[in-house]
Amino acid sequence: MSNSKRLFLRSKKVIPSGINSPVRYYDPYPFFVKKAQGSSLWDVDGNHYLDFCNGYGALLLGHRRKEIVSSVLSQLKKGTLYCAPTELEVELSELISKNFPSMQKVRLVNTGSEATMTAIRLARGFTKKKKIIKFEGCYHGAHDYVLVKAGSGAAHMGISVSDGSLEEVSKNTLVVQYNNSEELASVLEKEKDVAAVIVEPVLANMGLVLPEKNFLSDIRKITSENDSLLIFDEVVTGFRMSPGGAQKSYSIDPDITTLGKALGNGFVIAAVGGKSEIMDILSPEGQVYQASTYAGNPVSVSAALASVKTMNKNKAKLYPKLERSLQEFSVNSGRSCI
Ligand SMILES: Cc1ncc(COP(=O)(O)O)c(C=O)c1O
Repeated sequence: MSNSKRLFLRSKKVIPSGINSPVRYYDPYPFFVKKAQGSSLWDVDGNHYLDFCNGYGALLLGHRRKEIVSSVLSQLKKGTLYCAPTELEVELSELISKNFPSMQKVRLVNTGSEATMTAIRLARGFTKKKKIIKFEGCYHGAHDYVLVKAGSGAAHMGISVSDGSLEEVSKNTLVVQYNNSEELASVLEKEKDVAAVIVEPVLANMGLVLPEKNFLSDIRKITSENDSLLIFDEVVTGFRMSPGGAQKSYSIDPDITTLGKALGNGFVIAAVGGKSEIMDILSPEGQVYQASTYAGNPVSVSAALASVKTMNKNKAKLYPKLERSLQEFSVNSGRSCI
């Protein structure tokens, strides 16, 4: 019996389905990882893999990138959690704002799910409206506001609304078709209680669907005309399409943006940011509550600082190379990817 199979059988006794996130489940069992470096993974049976998954988009710079490892090691010697602010957090937020000018103010959080949850609560608090609109197949995390006709693992497992989610919550999440700005306009004409439209600017969780010409500029216009906010969920596209994300590539100015994945290049960190007047309603100065013990912890922040600086420093080579190799991959595999 392989070591992976043995571990899986052991794991199933103490971990539901034997894994800690549904997309890691493979039939008959997933391989268990021993270590990783650069683009390589090794499993507990000594097999070597080229990693095309890349932490589902988090590891833009690969496993154990030297700049990030050395930044984190040096922070580890100074402490791992202070629960008091640090200069590192200020520096990272300044850097994020520079890359993403629409994010005038930034709160650091831990995961993409936390970022989208906060973005939606902020939109509700700011507009005093209740409903949100998402697009079918877009995935914005595993919380009740958005786990409605979602992509990613939820689509693989055939889950449209999760058991345990409250109908009272999901009925306030309206769903329209991606790339159908006419449908969005007609829903917004009837529904006057929509706080925000949340979108993956490039839909990466249902295969890959590119926005059709004018789709993003149309939804920007439609949301503004209807006094709803536009949330760009750039958890996948942020730092991936360009150092300034999809909003830079498509020249769109969303009201709120969420970042995750590549921001920390393998460390647990995400961000939510937007126009100052919106972000300023967060507590304690404002009335929209958001909090987390580990938010802005110095280990993750030092990893993110090194990630963003490395991506920025290498942008002239990194992004054209990324685009070239993905185009080659698309041609050779018949699949689109970002
Ligand atoms: C576009 C998008 N938003 C949000 C999330 C949720 O991020 P996390 O898994 O860090 O909670 C994901 C995760 O895959 C995602 O792809």
